Amino acid sequence: MSDTVIVADKLSEKQLEYMQLIAEIMEIRKRGEKPLAFIRTYGCQQNVADSEKIKGMLAKSGFSFTDTPDDADFILFNTCAVREHAEDRVFGNVGALKNLKRKHPQILIALCGCMMEQEHIANRIYNSFPFVGLVFGTHSLHHFPELLYSSLVNSKRVFERGNDDKKLYEGIPVKRDGTFKGWLPIMYGCNNFCTYCIVPYVRGRERSREKDIILSEAREMIQSGYKDITLLGQNVNSYGKTLPEPVSFAKLISEIDTIDGDYWLRFMTSHPKDCSKELIDAIANGRHISKHLHLPFQSGSDRILKAMNRHYDRKKYLETIAYAKEKIDGVSLTSDIIVGFPGETYEDFKETLSLIREVEFTSLFTFIYSPRVGTPAAKMDDPISAEEKSKWFRELLDVQEEIAAKRCSAMVGATERVLIEGVKEKTNELNARTSGNIIVELEGSPDLIGTFRNVKITKARNWILKGELTE
Ligand code: 5AD
Ligand code: SF4
Repeated sequence: MSDTVIVADKLSEKQLEYMQLIAEIMEIRKRGEKPLAFIRTYGCQQNVADSEKIKGMLAKSGFSFTDTPDDADFILFNTCAVREHAEDRVFGNVGALKNLKRKHPQILIALCGCMMEQEHIANRIYNSFPFVGLVFGTHSLHHFPELLYSSLVNSKRVFERGNDDKKLYEGIPVKRDGTFKGWLPIMYGCNNFCTYCIVPYVRGRERSREKDIILSEAREMIQSGYKDITLLGQNVNSYGKTLPEPVSFAKLISEIDTIDGDYWLRFMTSHPKDCSKELIDAIANGRHISKHLHLPFQSGSDRILKAMNRHYDRKKYLETIAYAKEKIDGVSLTSDIIVGFPGETYEDFKETLSLIREVEFTSLFTFIYSPRVGTPAAKMDDPISAEEKSKWFRELLDVQEEIAAKRCSAMVGATERVLIEGVKEKTNELNARTSGNIIVELEGSPDLIGTFRNVKITKARNWILKGELTE
């Protein structure tokens, strides 16, 4: 879009000063030995990445972090608006904080993220949850220190949403949750307006970060030991279109791939309408790029894809998949699916089933359609009952389970390179992941966490593999 050329602004000096002031206030206001913050993140990786920025700013404001809300001086929920279920959980969990605030009135309770960009939600919070002192949306992240400061010094509640959706800000400190798996946002917002989706309304228009800034952040992450880096954006295939000097996503990922080191590079999410052969070739030829393509198709029915405003049809989707299978040796394919979009019939749904049978995905993220206030789909006729949709949903899960089991069984006997990610609580086994994003469980020492190992696959249990170290 020609009117959305975005030039990045730096986090202002003023915000740095606010962080300093917050640190001074919190020294007096803290309940324990040091000021503590509790951050809970709902929803997608984009939200996780936003929370890592918030934590970065809080750390610079003198905060340490706790996993227990009861100990915290500052409690923040970073919320998700993509489905009703996520919103209901937030309302339930916020309600549960009422007693804590009554017991310790000096605690500041705050809500941020996608839900808070919706006027009706912000109003509901304002009216029904008077103990919530600070509310801000996704567009206000760059001046979070200022908002936090004014909540701490004024007795008034601070509510802010909207504006600024054409800008992006660099120089915000980041405190990453992981030490070897990390998120790297390359763009924000979405221009696609799929008719069911709230994201373009709550995250604004597409804005891409400058290629050189992304490259230097990737370099920094690789040098400091990150082994699994995921490039993030709502539609990474349209990366770079709004930059003063446009760059394609394939070019960006290929350039990152030239950085030396032992790491995997992933990305999400790709939109099938823009998934280019150039990108598939880049994955095929990459040294570090995972042989994994997450390509959400949402529905196998052309009629429903049109109603969803997806701008591709089943044939085009399958052509892209065929090209990926041809070029990328052992490609692992995953996808998102919505069941029960308004007007969807069982005949349409069967088209979704036949598509998943045809492609044979490694795994799927499946969702029952959830109406979102303000989106076109929420006004469409939706005659199918919730019970009927649940029945279809279960049918979909059964079919996918069969496919995943078949795919996983075919891997038994093979040797796979995996990244060891952690320890499974119940069994003390190690959890690992293949480049194609398949989980492998194996015996081994926790010292191996954060390292790449070769593992022989010994068993398959539905979509999970069992393996043993080969060295
Ligand atoms: N209802 C159900 N699922 C949705 N998604 C997005 N909006 C909705 C909605 N209103 C799903 C899509 C998307 C994923 C992130 O969430 O499948 O790809
Ligand atoms: Fe939502 Fe569609 Fe944008 Fe994805 S591409 S965030 S589904 S509007």
